[in-house]
Amino acid sequence: MMKSLKTDDGHTLKVHLEGEGRPGLLLVHGFPFDHRQWGPQIEALSGVTAVAAPDLRGLGASEGPGEASGYSMDRYARDLVGVLDGLGWEEAVFAGLSMGGYIALAFHRLFPRRLAGLVLMDTHPYPDSEEGRAGRKENQKRVRSDGPDALVDEMVERVLGPTTLGERPHIVSMVRSMISEQPAGGVIGALEAMAGRPSSVADLAGVGVPSLVMVGSEDTLTTPVQVQGMAAKIPGARFREIRAAGHLVSLEAPEAVNEALRSFLEEEWGV
Ligand code: MLT
Repeated sequence: MMKSLKTDDGHTLKVHLEGEGRPGLLLVHGFPFDHRQWGPQIEALSGVTAVAAPDLRGLGASEGPGEASGYSMDRYARDLVGVLDGLGWEEAVFAGLSMGGYIALAFHRLFPRRLAGLVLMDTHPYPDSEEGRAGRKENQKRVRSDGPDALVDEMVERVLGPTTLGERPHIVSMVRSMISEQPAGGVIGALEAMAGRPSSVADLAGVGVPSLVMVGSEDTLTTPVQVQGMAAKIPGARFREIRAAGHLVSLEAPEAVNEALRSFLEEEWGV
């Protein structure tokens, strides 16, 4: 079912909600995607507990501000605590992939008591470098003039691993359309939010909830070595490398990701 919830600054967010049970699983997508990035997880895990997969402000079917200054990691995190309030969830197991992971770390800093567990996938805690920020600005310009289509070819090459690019044509075409269908304003806003995000490195040692960290073995954006390094800084975090998948593990290796999430939920909460 698709639910509509209002943010505290008046934008309507669309949240895909399935299943029942506690703790609920909040699935937060990466850039430049929407809740469809979690299709296989929504299907498999809603049999186990409640699953909510929002479209972040300005992306997918969610509304967002027209100006880029209306987007930041803290702003996304505030939207998501509003989603928990709207769903009547005291707390959630927050699973974030890539940009979703940046948001998960902002959420942990701002609302630690609303976090039952943390799942970080293909992400890292560092801010953008100067060069990275310049690249975001350049991409904002390209999206302003040609729309998100300007990013499709290079994003697909960057986010999907060689196994998917060579052997999973349906995933390649699904990811291409998902990028090209995103509203330009939300893509430009997300680039602004990523360029301005602070470091979360110092927060990792303070994560006091059960945590699971995953990465695709073929991820070149956030490599297994980098992601394992992040996991080592989180007290007691489990680490799983997912074979034959790149950065977009939730779609590239859904069975392995579902299995890791299912065991995590079962071992920690008995669901
Ligand atoms: C993502 O997948 O969310 C992005 O690759 C993150 C980024 O560009 O830093």
